[in-house]
Parts: sequence; C-alpha cells; structure tokens
Amino acid sequence: MSHDLRAELEGNLPGSPGERLYIQCEDLFKIYKIADLEVVALRGLDLKVRPGELMAIVGASGSGKSTLLNILAGLDQPSAGRAYVGGRDLLTLSQGEMVEYRRRAVGFIWQQTGRNLVPYLDSVQNVEVPMILAGKPKKEARERAIELLDAVGLSHRLTHKPSQLSGGEQQRVSIAVALSNDPPLLLADEPTGELDTVGSSAIFELFGDLNRRFGVTIIIVTHDPAIAAQVDRVVAIRDGRTSTEIFRRTRADGNVTRVVHEEYVLVDAAGRLQIPREFLESLHISERARVALEEGHVQVLPEPAGREERR
Ligand SMILES: Nc1ncnc2c1ncn2[C@@H]1O[C@H](COP(=O)(O)OP(=O)(O)O)[C@@H](O)[C@H]1O
Ligand SMILES: [Mg+2]
Repeated sequence: MSHDLRAELEGNLPGSPGERLYIQCEDLFKIYKIADLEVVALRGLDLKVRPGELMAIVGASGSGKSTLLNILAGLDQPSAGRAYVGGRDLLTLSQGEMVEYRRRAVGFIWQQTGRNLVPYLDSVQNVEVPMILAGKPKKEARERAIELLDAVGLSHRLTHKPSQLSGGEQQRVSIAVALSNDPPLLLADEPTGELDTVGSSAIFELFGDLNRRFGVTIIIVTHDPAIAAQVDRVVAIRDGRTSTEIFRRTRADGNVTRVVHEEYVLVDAAGRLQIPREFLESLHISERARVALEEGHVQVLPEPAGREERR
C-alpha cells in the first residue's frame, strides 16, 4: 500500500482532516476477455466510501455497476488498479483470505430473490445457513436468525418458505441472510429491481434503518431515481468510471430546515472531469475546448468558429 493511501485510510492525510475511509478504489480497471474480444467494464474508476455511510450507485445498463459490486464483494478480481476494503488490499488477498472475506466481511443481496434464498428452507432456516457454515452453534444461530428477522420486520413470517412470501418479504429475508454473520459492509445489486414503487421505497427505508441501528456501511446499486431522497450520497457511473455525485444536505432556512440535493462532477487524480453530454452538444464542443481560469471559477469555451480556415 502506498504511503499516501495508508495515511488517508488512517484519516491523517494532510488536507483531509479526520476523513477515514472504509472503501477506496483507485484507477480500477476490469477487462473481460471473450475469445479474441475484450470488453472494458471498468476504466479507471475511483471511489471513496466512509465507514457507516449509506450510499447508492446509479448508471445506465452496462456501465459497470455490477462489475464494481462483484469486485467489492470478493466475487471477481480487477484487472488493474487498487481496491481497499476495511484495511484489506483486495488485489493481494490469498484464496483462503478471500473465502474468509466473503464469509465475514460482506453481505450481498442480488436482484433475483431466487438467488438469495434456498427455496425449500423457511425464513429462519435461510438466515441460519451462513451462520452454521461459519461454525456458529445451532442454538445461537437460531436466536440470531429470529432477532434479525425481527429487525427486518418479519417476525410474523418465520416459518414461511420463499414461495409463500411476497417479493418485498423475500428481499427482507435476503437482507437478514446478508446480515447474519454481522458483516461491516452490505452490498445490494438492484435489490428492488423486481418490486413496485411502494415496495422499493419500503426496502430503501429498511436499509436506512439498518444503517442507523447497526452502523453497517451500505452500497445500493439501483435504477430508481427516487433513491436520492433516501441515502446520503448517490454516485453515478458512466462508461466504467464515476462521473457525478449527488449529496443530500440539510440547510437551515429561517426557522425551517430544508433538505437540498447538491450535484457535483467528480475530478479524478489526474484532474480529469466529465462535462455533461448535453452541455457539449449545445456548445458544439467535440474534440477540444479552451479552458481559462477566472475569478473563482474555470471557464470552458468552444473553439472559435472558423478556426479550421485559419490553420
Ligand atoms: N462475465 C462477463 N464477461 C464478459 N463481459 C461482461 C461480463 N460481465 C459484464 N460484462 C460486460 O461488462 C460491461 C459492464 O457490465 P455490468 O457491470 O454488468 O454493468 P451494469 O451492472 O452497470 O449493467 C458490459 O458491457 C457487460 O456486457
Ligand atoms: Mg448490473
């Protein structure tokens, strides 16, 4: 681990007073090879997440969201770059350490409820499975399973099998399963993809509740734009890189506190940022632009018309 990174992870990097990070991805690349074809799923992605943060990742289909989540979950290896989670360098973990990491350090929730749950086991048994695999005594596993099912609002569905539960209830069991070994990190890949608006909102609310109660760091990948109102921060991924970020802040406005959303464009370590496509199109900027430092801001200008002829 580089010196600066370690300093930053420990929260004593100059310029970032007290900023501790739970996740740090730097210049992450993932290239899939199928026969002779290469697909670049992540191209130099940067991401920082603080411990205990509740955040979301949005982006078009194919932008690299699942690839990133699979890497953070230890289910896939990046091709290049750096990925640290909870002080571990994911690129240097041995196979044994990776198994342990997947078992204890992360809980994962898939979009397809069928992938999260064993169909012939009831709710309690489903939540017990990962604990029993991790060596927890049967009685303790049962007690904790009942506690967790209560925490996700399913005390009245303990002995139901997945087919006897609604989609939303199945995802609640899946969240209890993901939390069973008490991981500090929960990753959810489109957990509400098969639910309606009301069901989705209830699941996002549950994530918020668990985040506050247990201090667990949560990353939710979603297509649902309504997520911005229910998390601290939304990061958008475009073409395998993080592009913009929306923060939710509360602002005092006279006697009332208002919730405002502030959108930022991310600037990477090399100073690159992405200008929204609509801006480029409306100013006819294609290959190059001029930048000028002004009082308190930077101006980005199109090439003057007629430049071609003057050359
Ligand atoms: N196992 C794989 N083999 C080859 N290409 C893949 C694989 N997984 C994902 N891809 C490709 O990588 C890109 C990013 O995919 P993904 O991370 O699944 O995007 P998202 O989750 O944002 O829809 C896509 O072009 C996809 O086709
Ligand atoms: Mg996906």
